[in-house]
Amino acid sequence: MHILLIGSGGREHALAYALKKSKQVGTLFALPGNAGIHSLCTPVDLKDTDAEGIIAFCKKETIGLVVIGPEAPLVAGLADKLEAAGIPVFGPSAKAAQLEGSKKFTKDLCKKYNLPTGAYDSFTDAASAKKYIDAQNSYPTVIKADGLAAGKGVIIAQNKAEAYKAIDEMFGGKFGDAGKLVVIEEFLDGEEASYFALSDGTTAIAFGSAQDHKRVGDGDTGPNTGGMGTYSPAPCVTKAIDEEVMRTIMQPAITAMKKEGMPFKGVLFAGLMLTKKGPKLIEFNARFGDPETQVLMLRLESDLVELMLACAKGNLEGKTVKLSSKAAVCVVMAAKGYPDTYVKNTEIKNIAQADQMEGVKVFHAGTKREAGKILAIGGRVLGVTAIGATVAEAQKRAYSAVDAIHWPEGFCRRDIAWRAIAQTKNAI
Ligand code: AMP
Ligand code: GLY
Repeated sequence: MHILLIGSGGREHALAYALKKSKQVGTLFALPGNAGIHSLCTPVDLKDTDAEGIIAFCKKETIGLVVIGPEAPLVAGLADKLEAAGIPVFGPSAKAAQLEGSKKFTKDLCKKYNLPTGAYDSFTDAASAKKYIDAQNSYPTVIKADGLAAGKGVIIAQNKAEAYKAIDEMFGGKFGDAGKLVVIEEFLDGEEASYFALSDGTTAIAFGSAQDHKRVGDGDTGPNTGGMGTYSPAPCVTKAIDEEVMRTIMQPAITAMKKEGMPFKGVLFAGLMLTKKGPKLIEFNARFGDPETQVLMLRLESDLVELMLACAKGNLEGKTVKLSSKAAVCVVMAAKGYPDTYVKNTEIKNIAQADQMEGVKVFHAGTKREAGKILAIGGRVLGVTAIGATVAEAQKRAYSAVDAIHWPEGFCRRDIAWRAIAQTKNAI
């Protein structure tokens, strides 16, 4: 079967790596891909906004499955258009992708179907939002732009002045249309984890857990980023919590979406807060996480094509995702300056040597190949990922590979997985 993979990040390189392992795959096409993805896939020169062009391409190449990696084409309705043209697609419809595209939509769904999450309200003007802040008079409080804001539309306000400032900025257009509606919600306290489940619109099956490090600096300091590193499994997601999350959050959300007439097909990614009162939902995403996918795909033992096709075709019931019991760690190498302005077009050497080290896989994000060289063209550039018997071993392998890579204009955190290693030690 020929497959088309849409996206260009580390997540898509990891998906390409897992898809390529399936015996069912003929040609794997990538739109647009990056230097790493192109070593596994045939590049397609189309834009992900060109639905008609993509449909014509799929028909010409007899594509049996389209896998959509990022949220933007999902929210824009690419899956709907492919499905209408009779092409099997892994990824939700635009309506179902509102679970990521609108925070109010998700909060309202949680309220209606009694899914565990923090208390909230939503506003379309600054005066009523401020009135709510005053009435609550409880800090910290969380202020969010409703729509997609590349992970930046969330402010944790420590006092009234910060809350008012965030409200004024959002309604003042800082996040464009995404901030026309503002959600204010209860601050949840606890440990955060990323949790994934596959769905065919009716059935949800567990995919696994991971944790990421969002801050740019060691010790979880400095500004937020798209994610500087991950590890999987998340030690805090015990078997009991895993079951509770599936029973109280993931399956109820899938059942609710079906009842609402917008079945969710694809991967549902829950950002969880493990509070003293049990796991609570912070947010949903309608896609795999980046860099969570890099660690999950290194642990995946099941056939990804078979699972994705079952999601697309509605026969997921009875299937399970098998992950290795080993641990995986991903260290992101970013261009110096990230998440602010950073230099581009610098050369990275020795990726192939690092990639051959035991248990290691180097996933590319912002890279391109030019005249035989690998150049960094993005903020997050590589996801140096390793598997090991323990999280400590995986971490050691990942950092040995990082040290083998020659890229003076890049940097990484040196403490990815510190919390998991501390917890594993405590457990022994
Ligand atoms: P989100 O984009 O909704 O995932 O929010 C970004 C980050 O803000 C999350 O990963 C959390 O660390 C934090 N956050 C969001 N909502 C809450 C909340 N209700 N309570 C505590 N922290 C939150
Ligand atoms: N790593 C978080 C995300 O993909 O949204």
